[in-house]
Amino acid sequence: MNVNGTPTRTVWMEGGTVRMINQPLLPHRFEILDLNDYRDTARAIATMQVRGAGAIGATAGFAMAQAALRADAATFHQDMATAADVVHATRPTAQNLFYAVKTVLGAIAGQGDNIQAARDAAVAAAMDLADDDAACCRAIGEHGEPLVPNKGRISTHCNAGWLAFVDWGSAMSPVYVAQRAGKKPFVWVDETRPRSQGARLTAWELAMEGVDHAVICDNAAGHYMRTGEIDMVIVGSDRIAANGDVANKIGTYTSALAAKANGIPFYVAAPTTTIDPDCPTGADIPIEERSQDEVRFTWGWSDDGTFMRVRTVPEQSSGRNPAFDVTPAELVTGIITEKGVVSASVEGIASVARS
Ligand code: MRU
Repeated sequence: MNVNGTPTRTVWMEGGTVRMINQPLLPHRFEILDLNDYRDTARAIATMQVRGAGAIGATAGFAMAQAALRADAATFHQDMATAADVVHATRPTAQNLFYAVKTVLGAIAGQGDNIQAARDAAVAAAMDLADDDAACCRAIGEHGEPLVPNKGRISTHCNAGWLAFVDWGSAMSPVYVAQRAGKKPFVWVDETRPRSQGARLTAWELAMEGVDHAVICDNAAGHYMRTGEIDMVIVGSDRIAANGDVANKIGTYTSALAAKANGIPFYVAAPTTTIDPDCPTGADIPIEERSQDEVRFTWGWSDDGTFMRVRTVPEQSSGRNPAFDVTPAELVTGIITEKGVVSASVEGIASVARS
């Protein structure tokens, strides 16, 4: 997708350097972060300099490739097992991260004791993972675009646009394809407290692509559903269970309930790398609990250009901060994947899941 007209990916690797858009600075500053060591790359996932399921997956793959390039030949396989533990420990919910680590380790295992071949295979696998993510998201756009009405008004939650993937995005890809086809979609962007990925990232992306949109506080989406100003909901996902239950950013479940109550189609868009066949239901999906300070404080840029933290609750008040929730399959109208739109059911998921 384009940043001021220049095609740009969210994260990529050049030589042994992982390069990524530094997302906490958006929309105020556009900066590229360069990381040369896999531990720094893993830290960038943990601190959410890169975030969003697909982007986390691609970055995890690159971190594993960096580890393979640097690992001592004498301790190569132990070093790679350590690297996998470090990357796994960054964030628990996005299935794409675990898929990426497993894929790179699989490529290495195929090379036996030939360490140079193992390094080359790790890099090739990581590059393929990133390209596959971008291609899947483009295909999600093609499959989802026919669902978007002309001048359709779409509600979305969090950021499942291109900044959450390598390119194109999941939930926003059908919108971008519809926009380029001249359908003039309009997007209601939930701000998505506490980290405001909707207000900061989705809104920025849509502005870059010239898509008409409005940012609303999270509490307002149900109101606009009830007043008939929302035609459909499209959200992303961080992990999809084998029965079609869907984990996504906290607040998604509330949006799905409101959509159901108002007869509004509720679609989930995700590449099949997000499906976890080892989670039978949503109850098996690990839900990340983040620092309570993300709720107790807010961050922003003051008029004089200073990045500031401001407390918004009484000093003695504690908080809770689950980063994701689970929307049960029965609230999901369909899942838009790179292989087509499937039902949120055991049969639908099995028909597209990767082995
Ligand atoms: O905590 P984040 O920003 O990594 O959360 C991920 C998300 O952006 C959303 O849950 C998104 O809707 C699904 S991931 C494309």
